[in-house]
Amino acid sequence: MSLILAIETSCDETAAAIVEDGRKVLANCVDSQIAIHEKYGGVVPEVAARHHLSAINQVVEETLRQAAIKPEALTHIACTNGPGLVGTLLVGLSCAKALAWSWSKPLVTIDHLFSHVYANYLDSDLEPPFICLLVSGGHSQLMKFDSYKDGEILGQTFDDAAGEAYDKVARLLGLEYPGGPNIDKIARQGNAKAFRFPEGVVEGFNFSFSGLKTAVLRQVEKLEEPLPREDLAASFQDAVNRVLFKKSVQAMESAGIEKLVLAGGVAANSDLRKRFETLQEEGKARIYMPPLKYCTDNAAMVASAAHFIGEEAGLDASVYSRSPSRRKAKSARLKN
Ligand code: KG4
Ligand code: ZN
Repeated sequence: MSLILAIETSCDETAAAIVEDGRKVLANCVDSQIAIHEKYGGVVPEVAARHHLSAINQVVEETLRQAAIKPEALTHIACTNGPGLVGTLLVGLSCAKALAWSWSKPLVTIDHLFSHVYANYLDSDLEPPFICLLVSGGHSQLMKFDSYKDGEILGQTFDDAAGEAYDKVARLLGLEYPGGPNIDKIARQGNAKAFRFPEGVVEGFNFSFSGLKTAVLRQVEKLEEPLPREDLAASFQDAVNRVLFKKSVQAMESAGIEKLVLAGGVAANSDLRKRFETLQEEGKARIYMPPLKYCTDNAAMVASAAHFIGEEAGLDASVYSRSPSRRKAKSARLKN
């Protein structure tokens, strides 16, 4: 049995959670800094780190209170140590180290990107093998999981991540930060067929979104104010989601696996979710997607990853800003 307190501070969310056996969430607290960074149009790393520092103790205390758990009962302390903003990661890791040391608990460090996948184990019956479409602000990957512990990268983005494309296009359209949810919102009033944007053609299960972003820019330059923002947002969203959906289905077919999980912030996108829901309704695949609160950054997914991966770290553990090489594609593609 494991009872894990996890901390997540890789970007602009100060989060802590307590999860039992990797699946049962006893408490999940997130202190979001969106209101703080909104006026800058994006996350300011130094401001974010300072805010994490002032919020972290309270968030951890609140998590223990909500779960009604005494520190003695915990089996591990887990923490995200990368990829992310170095200054913000250091706040979470320092806090996790201090708790692990003072409560005499083992420390487990977890890769942030990887932990998004584990959001699908929370309050669910998911078991491997499955294909995972992992789409966040910094990464877009298709992965194949044969075990609880490790996944093979089948393909990834050559340039912008899906979430990054959402955020950049949102800025082009004059929408506020965070861009993704705002595009999602206005696209519901738009016509997805108003503009035909390119999908970004790349081999295998890889993605490319920078051409699409440029195509939206060129289109905006040709138009006059007031811009048809809803139509532009809907057409852009359609182009991104079309390719994400198509390649996910191809990856499932190629691997002979009829189970797909969605992970990362972009998995909160309502149009993307609808496409996969339809696939499930048609009986073509079993689809897992986390509830919205577990799609974006949170610590419950970190606790779950710590349970299933569970490699202990020393108190000399450090942080990293970019994905380590071991996450690089073993072989970029599945053989057909
Ligand atoms: O996974 P996440 O919270 O942070 C990273 O690990 O990067 O993902 C954040 C990304 C942002 O780019 C945000 O715009 C995007 O997820 N996002 C969305 C939606 N909600 C968040 N993109 C499209 N539609 C959404 N509803
Ligand atoms: Zn994330």
